[in-house]
Amino acid sequence: MRDAEVWVNGIKVGGWHYGYTSFALDITTYIKPHTQNTIAVRVENKDFSSRWYPGAGIYRDVWLTITNPVHIAHWGTFVTTPSVSDDKAKVNVATTVQNQSAYSQLMTLETCIFNAENKMVARFSSSDTIISQDQLEIMHELTIQTPRRWDINDPYLYRAISKIRQDGKLIDDYQTSFGIRTFKFDADEGFSLNGRTLKLNGVNMHHDLGPLGAAVNYRATERQLEIMKSMGVNAIRTAHNPPSPEQMDLCDKMGILVMDESFDEWRKPKNMYTNSYSYAFDEWAELDMRALVLRDRNHPSVVLWSTGNEVPELGTGKVSIDGEWAIHYDQKGQLVTFHEGDETYFGRYDGETLNLDVNERTARKLAQRDDAPSLSGTTWDIKRVNEIYHYDFWDDDGGKLSAQRLTDICHELDPTRPVGSGIHLSIRLDQELMDKFDVGGFNYWHESIKELHEIYPDKPLLVTEASATLSTRGEYHFPVERIYRRYIHESMQISSYDLINTGFGALPDLEFKLQNDNPWLAGQFVWSGFDYHGEPDPYEDMWPAHSSYFGIVDMCGFPKDRYYLYQSEWTAEPMIHLLPHWNWAGREGETTPIFCYTNCASAELFVNGVSQGKRVKAKDVYRLRWDDVGYQPGSIKVIGFDEEGHVIQEKEVFTAGEPYRIELSADRHIITADGEDLAFVTVRILDEAGNICPRADNLVEFQVNGVAELFAVGNGNPISIESYQASHRKAFNGLCLAIVRSDGHNGEISFEASSEGIEGHQLSLSAE
Ligand code: GAL
Repeated sequence: MRDAEVWVNGIKVGGWHYGYTSFALDITTYIKPHTQNTIAVRVENKDFSSRWYPGAGIYRDVWLTITNPVHIAHWGTFVTTPSVSDDKAKVNVATTVQNQSAYSQLMTLETCIFNAENKMVARFSSSDTIISQDQLEIMHELTIQTPRRWDINDPYLYRAISKIRQDGKLIDDYQTSFGIRTFKFDADEGFSLNGRTLKLNGVNMHHDLGPLGAAVNYRATERQLEIMKSMGVNAIRTAHNPPSPEQMDLCDKMGILVMDESFDEWRKPKNMYTNSYSYAFDEWAELDMRALVLRDRNHPSVVLWSTGNEVPELGTGKVSIDGEWAIHYDQKGQLVTFHEGDETYFGRYDGETLNLDVNERTARKLAQRDDAPSLSGTTWDIKRVNEIYHYDFWDDDGGKLSAQRLTDICHELDPTRPVGSGIHLSIRLDQELMDKFDVGGFNYWHESIKELHEIYPDKPLLVTEASATLSTRGEYHFPVERIYRRYIHESMQISSYDLINTGFGALPDLEFKLQNDNPWLAGQFVWSGFDYHGEPDPYEDMWPAHSSYFGIVDMCGFPKDRYYLYQSEWTAEPMIHLLPHWNWAGREGETTPIFCYTNCASAELFVNGVSQGKRVKAKDVYRLRWDDVGYQPGSIKVIGFDEEGHVIQEKEVFTAGEPYRIELSADRHIITADGEDLAFVTVRILDEAGNICPRADNLVEFQVNGVAELFAVGNGNPISIESYQASHRKAFNGLCLAIVRSDGHNGEISFEASSEGIEGHQLSLSAE
C-alpha cells in the first residue's frame, strides 16, 4: 500500500498504483541466470489517502511463479456453469494458454475435474498450436453428473486441473477451485440461491485485522469470518476495495456470499482526501476493475460486482443554510443535520424542505481548502458566514459515464454476474442512472427504499449499508435514551444499549422490519461487522479516539451486545442474551433498564428471584425490554420459552465482586507449525466466584515460551493508545486479547498471564 514499484537487479520492471489490487509482472528478461538476483519493492502511502486506515508496506502475499515458456496465463482460466440441474451440470472451462517462446508450439491441454473427495468426475483434452509470443483461449465443455451444489450450508467445491503436455511430457499445470450453483437477484422476489429465496444477512468489512493491522493473515481472516458466521452472517461486502485472495478462498470454503467491491472513489475525492484514489482514476480504473474481475470470477461466493461506494460525482444534493433551512435535495425522506448554537441536530426531508448532507466538521474542512473553488467539474461553493454554510454538492454528469464504463468491463469479463454499487443518500437518482446497474445497492435509504421500489419496479434492490449503530463493548450510560443526532459523552465511549446511531443510520430493529416486511428486498449489509481503525465517529476530532464504534464486534473480535441482537434475528438455534452488566454500586434504586436479545418466543425476567414479568417477541418486537427496573445488587436472570411455553434457554448475570483471578481461553489449542498460524487467547478478569468483572481494567503481563511468540495484544477500547506490540495490556471492561504466532517449529507452547494482586493463569498449547 501503495504506488508499488518493482525493481529487479536495479531496473524498474513496473508496478501498480492501487494498493488493494492484485497484480503480476513478468520478470523473465530481467533475471540473470546462475547468479544471485535482487527483487526490490518500493511503496509509498501518502498522507490523506484514505478515509480509513489502509495499512502500509507489503501487506498481502507475493508469489514467484516459474513456468515453461508455454503455460497457462496468469488468472488464465474462467469456469462457468451455463446449465445446472439435479441430473447434470454443464461446466465450461475457458483456458488461456500463452506461448512466450520464439517458435510456434503444438501442445495438448487436458482439463480434469475433481470433486471434493478427490475423485475425477469429468475430463477433456484437445491439441492446438500456439504461435510465438501469442496466446489462445481454449474452451473445454464438460458435464458433471448429479452435481453437488455449492451453498451457504454446504459450500461444496470442485477443482479443475488443467495440464499442458508436449510430446507426452507435462510442462505446466494449473488448479482452479470452483462451485456449481445458481443464483438470482429479482425485483419482486429478492435474492435466491439454488432456487431457494434467501435474505442476504450481510455485514460490511474493511480489510482491517484489529491488533494485527492490515497485513493479511489467513487465520486472522478466518477467525473474523467465523465470528460473523456464528452471528448468522451469510454475506460480506468487501468495503470498499478489492479484498485479499485469502478472504475470497475462505468465503468459498465457508459458504459466505460476497459483494466484491472495487472503489470508494472515482474521479472526485471525498472530503479532504486529496491523495486518495481519485487522481489516479482516469489512468487506472479500467485496469483495477479488470484485475478484480479476472482474479475473482471463479469464486462461487461472489454474487455481485460492485463498482464503487457513494462516489461523489453521483451525488448532487445542494445545501444552503441561511438561518432558515432551505434545501434542494431530491430524495424524500432523507436525513439532514443542522446546527443551532453548539448543538447539532438532524432533520428529515418532508418532501418540501430539507437540509444538509455534510456535518459542520466536513463543511469547515471543505471551506479551509485552498483549492476548493477551483476544483474542476464541480459547482460547489462554501463560505463561512457566522456559522452559516453554503454548500453545493458535487454535480458532474461524468459520473454516469464512469458508472457505465465500469459496468461494461464487468459484463465483458463476466457475463454471469450482476453489477451494482453502494449508492449514497445525496444522489440525484433517475432512470438513466438506475439503468447503469443491474442491482440497485442503497446505503441508508431506509426512509425511502419502498418508494424506490415503486418508482423502479423492475430493479432488484439491496441495502448495501444499513444501520450505522454505534456502541462500545461493555459501556452503559444513563438515562437510557434513543439518540440519532451527534452524541458526545465525556467518556468518549458510546452506550451499548444499542439505541444510538449516526444521523443517517437506523437501529437494527428498523432494518429487520424493513427486510421482513418487504420480500422484494434482497437483504442488507450492516455497517459494520468489525470495528476498524479510523472513522471514530462521533469523536472524530477527539484524540485519542482512533477506531470506529460501528462494529457489531470490537477490534479484538469480542462481541458487543449488538452481536446477540443480530444473532437473535439471523439464527434459529435457541439463544438468549441479557444486558447490561449488574455492577452499579452507587446507583441503588435508580432506573436501570434491562434488555434481552433472544430468538425464544418469550422471556421472563427475575431480579433477585422476583419476577419482573414476561415479554413476548410479537411482530416487530426485536428486543425485549424491562425499562423500569430499579438497580439492586444481586442477580438478574432471564428465562426463555418456546411457543408452547417450555423453558428452552436461561441466562443469569450476577453482581461481580473484586477482581480475583485471570482466566485464559484459546480459540484453538493446536496450531500449525508454519510460522503464520495463530492462537487467539481471550483473557478474562474474574471474581472469586467466577463472574466476569465487567469494569476490570487490570494490567496483564504475558509470557510465551516454546515454539511461538507473542504477536500482538489488544482490548477493543477505541480510545486506548497502548501498543499492540507490547508484552502487556490493560483489560478493558473485563477482557483483553493476546495473539500468539507459531515460530515455524513443532513443539509445545506455554502461555502465561499474570497481573498484580490477582491470580495468574497458564495455558498449554502446541504447534504441529
Ligand atoms: C458510509 C460510508 C462508509 C462509512 C459509513 C459510516 O456513508 O460508505 O464507508 O464511512 O458511512 O460513517
